[in-house]
Amino acid sequence: MNLFQEPILAIESSCDETSAAVIIEGFVRSNIISSQAELHQKWGGVVPEAAARAHVEAILPVIEEALAAAKSKLSDMKAVAVTNRPGLVGALSVGISAAKALSFALGVPLIGIHHLEGHICSAAIEMGVFPHVCLIVSGGHTELVHVHDLGRYEIIGHTRDDAAGEAFDKGARLLGLGYPGGFAIQEAARTGNPARYSLPRGLSGDTTDFSFSGLKTAVLRLTQSEGVKISVAGAAASLQEAIVSVLTERAMLACERLGSEALTLVGGVAANEALRGRLAQACDKRGITFHTPPIALCTDNAAMIGLAASFRLGRGESDDVDLEALPNAPLP
Ligand code: KG4
Ligand code: ZN
Repeated sequence: MNLFQEPILAIESSCDETSAAVIIEGFVRSNIISSQAELHQKWGGVVPEAAARAHVEAILPVIEEALAAAKSKLSDMKAVAVTNRPGLVGALSVGISAAKALSFALGVPLIGIHHLEGHICSAAIEMGVFPHVCLIVSGGHTELVHVHDLGRYEIIGHTRDDAAGEAFDKGARLLGLGYPGGFAIQEAARTGNPARYSLPRGLSGDTTDFSFSGLKTAVLRLTQSEGVKISVAGAAASLQEAIVSVLTERAMLACERLGSEALTLVGGVAANEALRGRLAQACDKRGITFHTPPIALCTDNAAMIGLAASFRLGRGESDDVDLEALPNAPLP
């Protein structure tokens, strides 16, 4: 692994987190995240225009804080990395404009990074085992990826409808637990019985794909049929169990099919304690190496973008000032 040795300033603004990080020799020196969760809470989801405006307000203070936390000066930075795809165009554009201005002013290379490659690298670089299977679970994505090597990815399973994070968020909303829902479900589930309610697992049979839309409908029906006598803790625990068990089962199937000796778990939903525990246990039983990053590198953050940049810049790659924000883009 030939990583860029000099300081990289990384920026992430693809959705509702404004983040900046400093990475040196593949190590995270600082990672500052300003979340807009409170702002979007009243609408129960991310409002793109509001997100873009909030990024404009947060971006410079967040960059300054990331530099200070890394005990670095802007002039120490020898490259600027930024998420340029996929994501909300208005939100991405804020980070890209800042990155372009800084790379131009400093006279250092600029590099655009795919958001999912960032999530993959949040675990892959530290683990250092290739090939491996990566389970990406976030508010927008649920993907099983065969990571042949850094930069060589093959999608081997994906969701056919909602993402796992969406299932947590929508379930939490139906249960009156607020937004974002993943953490709220996790906390409510602590005192609940995961076998309290029977909820669907989506697709049946031998597949590495996922389907979570039926789960959302089932939770809606449950709230209607149970009314005020519903056990919120029981419903949260049953919902979490449905998601965790299906993710674990499919990830194990993917490893088995590919004969993979290692698995990584990344993305916002990777912050879920039950999922981390269940996958660790399943891997341990099969002799599979399991790696998941600390929570701060699971939900959206700039450190993962800087980690992906450190191997791409290390290979001599960079982008021009015409770097664009792309709402949709396949993994590189
Ligand atoms: O990766 P991320 O920050 O943003 C996207 O790229 O989508 O993921 C956000 C998702 C949300 O759906 C949120 O509810 C979920 O991650 N999440 C969790 C937990 N913490 C965040 N889901 C389950 N358990 C958690 N502890
Ligand atoms: Zn993400």
